[in-house]
Amino acid sequence: MITDTKEAFDSTAAVEIVKQIEKKPNSVLGLATGHTPKGMYEVLVQMYQEKKIDFSQVIVLNLDEYFGADSDHPGTCKGYLTERLYQHVNLKKENIYYLNSQPASGEEECKRYDQLINQLGGIDFLILGIGKNGHLGFNEPGTSLESQTHIIDLTDRSRTDNAWSFGGKENVPTQGITMGIKTIMNAKKLMMMANGENKADIVEKAFNGPVTSDVPASVLQIHNNAVVILDKEAASKLHNDLY
Ligand code: F6R
Repeated sequence: MITDTKEAFDSTAAVEIVKQIEKKPNSVLGLATGHTPKGMYEVLVQMYQEKKIDFSQVIVLNLDEYFGADSDHPGTCKGYLTERLYQHVNLKKENIYYLNSQPASGEEECKRYDQLINQLGGIDFLILGIGKNGHLGFNEPGTSLESQTHIIDLTDRSRTDNAWSFGGKENVPTQGITMGIKTIMNAKKLMMMANGENKADIVEKAFNGPVTSDVPASVLQIHNNAVVILDKEAASKLHNDLY
């Protein structure tokens, strides 16, 4: 879906979530953070206030997290989602799951998350952004398409792009913990969002180019239930045959 305005971008994405929750009130949602979905979360909060959406049975999981970050740091994915969504809507505390940024064992934490996703019956609807290098979650270029939840070194580019969350690149943790590409591909439905001219090149590569682990987001091409929401700037370099 290609939208013309920022308002349309945010509300189109929010409406997809509303439709999912209407269809299955106890949906398991996987949620991304970053600049891109900020407006969508605002629309969701507004729709909740207008009683157009009910989160009382919804289960949420975060897609990724900064590994090693203080879990109360507002720049973490947990901090972001709490501030922008969780504290404003009627999600039940026990239905909010996180990746622990400071687990006793990283390896055990990854296993725990994969088991948790299985126990919940899988992810019904997973929201994704795209990094300028094509990353999905924190799955940087080169990540195995078979990967499950894992810990990964963040690229310099990703740390620079996320400097805003931690008040400077030097404060951005050097590693991330993230659902793997296989975990992502196992979600029953995916929704990827990208906006702005600075995403046009990578969107073109991801959707006009080959499916390759060099561009993790290219795997969306082979998911059987994926919606991609773009604004016209992010879509500006796509070849016409995709429209
Ligand atoms: C965040 C995440 C990342 C972002 C991506 C785009 O949870 O998973 O993959 O979606 O880095 O970030 P923005 O939206 O800030 O351009």
